[in-house]
Amino acid sequence: MTPGERAAALEQLAAEVRGCTACRLHRGRTHAVPGEGHPETEVVFVGEGPGQNEDQQGRPFVGAAGGLLTELLELVGWRRDAVFITNVVKCRPPGNRDPEPDEIAACAGFLHRQLEALDPAVVVTLGRYSLGTFMPGAKISTAHGTVRPVDPATGAPSAVAFAMYHPAAAFRQTALKETLVADMANLPQVLLDARKARSTRIEGAGVDAEEGASRPAAGAPPGADLEAEADTPDDATFDAGPAAEPAVPDEQPPLAPATEDAPDDSDRTDQMTLF
Ligand code: URA
Repeated sequence: MTPGERAAALEQLAAEVRGCTACRLHRGRTHAVPGEGHPETEVVFVGEGPGQNEDQQGRPFVGAAGGLLTELLELVGWRRDAVFITNVVKCRPPGNRDPEPDEIAACAGFLHRQLEALDPAVVVTLGRYSLGTFMPGAKISTAHGTVRPVDPATGAPSAVAFAMYHPAAAFRQTALKETLVADMANLPQVLLDARKARSTRIEGAGVDAEEGASRPAAGAPPGADLEAEADTPDDATFDAGPAAEPAVPDEQPPLAPATEDAPDDSDRTDQMTLF
């Protein structure tokens, strides 16, 4: 899919979501909330469903939980508009109740098509219902901070899921903020590992690895993106288990070529491009 085709597919989907009447949730909505973000991103965050603020604005994670999510992203130097943020259900369940199974099922096709179009390397699950979609049977208390391959039946053809607590959980249990911070600190390394594994799979499938491994940002300087490498030959990387310990990956090219005077920034995660 070209960037233009991807953006058009996501726009078409958003229009369908805004007009959807497939389940009872459409009756109480002010706005449907299709999701938003960079069409070329490698990282998709999937929450549970819109709350009151999201329903009013038609945008995901714009209330208090969204403020914390943005803060967490900033901790690793990522901008909110460099990722894609969406939800399992696209309309607000009344009174912020949990979404019903038939409501999730009615909306599943939209999430599936979003993931198909975005083809992310990493799907970050936020909360129980998202976890249940991408890591069926997992419990958040033990799954948070771990990765698992995503079933392509979800729509994401070649991704890993990275489980996190829902940011709103930190408002109920303040100690969870530290957990969210610690898990988020590992996300850049999870992305680096996922890129490697994708390039390995793509090479195995006979596709040019550099082309398939990542999508260079328009106008990005040479070296802005991670070189595709093929030295991670197995999927064992993504066996469930704690994500890599260090918050700082051991390899990361600088955005601009290093000069003699410039400090070596090659291990900085805050310079990662996500698309
Ligand atoms: N909580 C969610 O799960 N999604 C939102 O968009 C906002 C809050």
